[in-house]
Amino acid sequence: MLKKGGSNWVEGEKFFDRELELEALEERVRDGTHTLLTAQRRMGKTSLVRELLRCLGKTDDFDTVFVDLETAMNSADAIAELSIQAKSVRGAWDRILANFANVLKGLGDRIDEIALADLKVKLRAGIDAGNWKQRGDAVFSALAGNERPVVLAIDELPILVNRLLKDENDRITPEGKQEADAFLSWLRKNGQEHQGQISIILSGSVGLEPLLEQVGLSAQANIFSAFDLKPWNEYTAASCLEELSDTYRIVLPLDVRQSMCSKLRCCIPHHVQMFFDKIHHHLKREGRQKASLDDVSWVYQQEMLSVRGQMDLQHYEGRLKTILGKTGYPIALEILTYTAVHDYLDDETVHLYEKYFTTQDDVGTPSVEDVLHVLHHDGYLERQPDGTSRFVSGLLEDWWRNRYGGNFKSTIEPRQSGREVER
Ligand SMILES: Nc1ncnc2c1ncn2[C@@H]1O[C@H](COP(=O)(O)OP(=O)(O)O)[C@@H](O)[C@H]1O
Ligand SMILES: [Mg+2]
Repeated sequence: MLKKGGSNWVEGEKFFDRELELEALEERVRDGTHTLLTAQRRMGKTSLVRELLRCLGKTDDFDTVFVDLETAMNSADAIAELSIQAKSVRGAWDRILANFANVLKGLGDRIDEIALADLKVKLRAGIDAGNWKQRGDAVFSALAGNERPVVLAIDELPILVNRLLKDENDRITPEGKQEADAFLSWLRKNGQEHQGQISIILSGSVGLEPLLEQVGLSAQANIFSAFDLKPWNEYTAASCLEELSDTYRIVLPLDVRQSMCSKLRCCIPHHVQMFFDKIHHHLKREGRQKASLDDVSWVYQQEMLSVRGQMDLQHYEGRLKTILGKTGYPIALEILTYTAVHDYLDDETVHLYEKYFTTQDDVGTPSVEDVLHVLHHDGYLERQPDGTSRFVSGLLEDWWRNRYGGNFKSTIEPRQSGREVER
């Protein structure tokens, strides 16, 4: 019985499919390969990793640690998070606590009674800019000394790297670069040193590679072998919809499910779940059990594309702002809106934008090329066989056009009015 997913990560009875991916990741872990799990947001990276850890945890072959760096502001915070999450590895925890003896003294046996959040604050107090590397090394050694090999999942690392790189004005600074470099080389060193005992899986909702490439730090990620998580294909998405409809006792005929998938174009699991949820509520309100093609169209137009109340799609904008900053975001906004309105983006237009957005003072700020790299890498746009780019997701394209396309007037001279052009 597949349960609805909501918007947080899912595992167990809410987790659907991804069998091949689970197998492939397990194989990597057993080979001692470090992985960089990449995909655009909401593809199910966190869920996949959580489910993998859950399954591996049951085998007795591994111990597992899951670290989320979303809220870490600096390297020391990241080490505090790593230290506290390593609590799940029995054979390492005592050694980790021993390493923090100076900040924990006086607690004695009461350590087990302290809430995890409070304990983290205590550990954090013992970590600073001068000692985070040694503290971090000690955690890695403790994990490596565990009887079973450890799978260490680190989620949202790119968010931290982004924070390290930039100042409050979203500019990449030399100090920031040094800090990011230091953190990544520390991680790489430990990954190499403990290969075989600790397998690292990095993941995050923004791409690490474009970020590192922008600042010339790509080599720091070269111990990680990329694993690209794809959207569901239409068959899988339709099967997921069918299982959900069974669980919630509604009827979604095949043509209805196919129509849902083709509207999405790219079956990002979260969008499939969202569509199901909205159809489910729509039927409930109408007091019906069986959905028609008209229901699909209505729900798509009125609910999936509604400008308000689509927190999730707004989140795409938030992430772009985070990663591209105050100077890069307007470029992305312009390019995405242009693409949504005109259906595609060609090289000529890109050149015009490159000219338009070039400024004298462009140190530490992303260029049109950098922005496009992020938009391609993070799954907003995709190159077509004819060399033009277009939105990957039909949903995001329609939503973006609704939100920004209304009075859109491109900053570059429009050469044609889009839609009428044969593709
Ligand atoms: N394997 C899956 N089965 C069912 N739903 C999924 C699956 N993967 C992702 N989802 C849906 O997508 C949402 C986002 O998943 P999440 O793992 O947080 O994505 P990411 O980490 O890539 O941003 C979940 O809340 C769930 O609704
Ligand atoms: Mg995630």
